[in-house]
Amino acid sequence: MMKIAIAGKGGVGKTLMASGLAWSLARSGYKTIAIDADPSPNLAISLGFDQDAADAIVPVSENERLIKLKTGTAFPGVYNLNFSVDDVVRDYAIPTPSGVHLLVMGTVKSMGSGCTCASNSVIRALLRHLVIDRDEAVVLDMEAGIEHLGRGTAEGVDMMIVVSDANKKSLTTAGTIVRMALDAGIPRVELAGNRITNITEETIIKMFAQEHNIPIVGIVPFDPAVMAGGIAGSSVMVFENTPAIRIIEEIGHRIELVKPAKGNT
Ligand SMILES: Nc1ncnc2c1ncn2[C@@H]1O[C@H](COP(=O)(O)OP(=O)(O)OP(=O)(O)O)[C@@H](O)[C@H]1O
Ligand SMILES: [Mg+2]
Repeated sequence: MMKIAIAGKGGVGKTLMASGLAWSLARSGYKTIAIDADPSPNLAISLGFDQDAADAIVPVSENERLIKLKTGTAFPGVYNLNFSVDDVVRDYAIPTPSGVHLLVMGTVKSMGSGCTCASNSVIRALLRHLVIDRDEAVVLDMEAGIEHLGRGTAEGVDMMIVVSDANKKSLTTAGTIVRMALDAGIPRVELAGNRITNITEETIIKMFAQEHNIPIVGIVPFDPAVMAGGIAGSSVMVFENTPAIRIIEEIGHRIELVKPAKGNT
């Protein structure tokens, strides 16, 4: 199937989109892997774990054995980038109550910051070289903002969904992400509106998509149930049949119908 990255300004609803989409794809029968690439990860809760279970997850970047195994060479500071990453995903992604498998990346500092270089290379390689089967899907919940895009984190994905609400600042960030994603050669870059409350906000989202010449993958309404669930720390599964999740499911079904532009089958 596809590798789908979810990006956008902080707090716009990336994790809701990522968890809702991953859950929807899993229910459609895809073996779905959700990758939490946010340095302060919280996808585990959305996918049905309680806080203790979420806290017990060891992020890939803190798994020294794995990092050494995958990047170690005889030369200090020289990393072996030519490794297979498929086993990382298949061995380390953990099943969640939602049926989605979860891989938590942990903190990825920028290249050149020294000690986190090796784990960063694992994450980049993982995204670029992970080959997924027809019956598999990968959903990547990205770090807020734009800085990470320059490092090529998302270059290996087939599609990026840029999430934005109707706020000017969210849209400005979304615009920068869209440009960077297109420059990075991501084949499909589409916009998702979120937390939309009225026709004016909907129009703002539509105009933005038109200006940037990208399709709208869906417009997710403000949803009081999701809002309350966020306060309570609920998983995405409790929102079944609420307006926001229904739209996100539709987005999932729409994505299923489109073949990836390149690479993965
Ligand atoms: N459509 C919606 N209706 C109501 N509340 C929403 C909606 N989308 C998101 N929220 C709420 O807004 C908050 C932020 O959402 P979410 O965590 O998905 O954003 P994010 O982009 O992942 O944030 P961060 O950048 O911190 O990772 C959450 O409390 C969530 O419950
Ligand atoms: Mg988030």
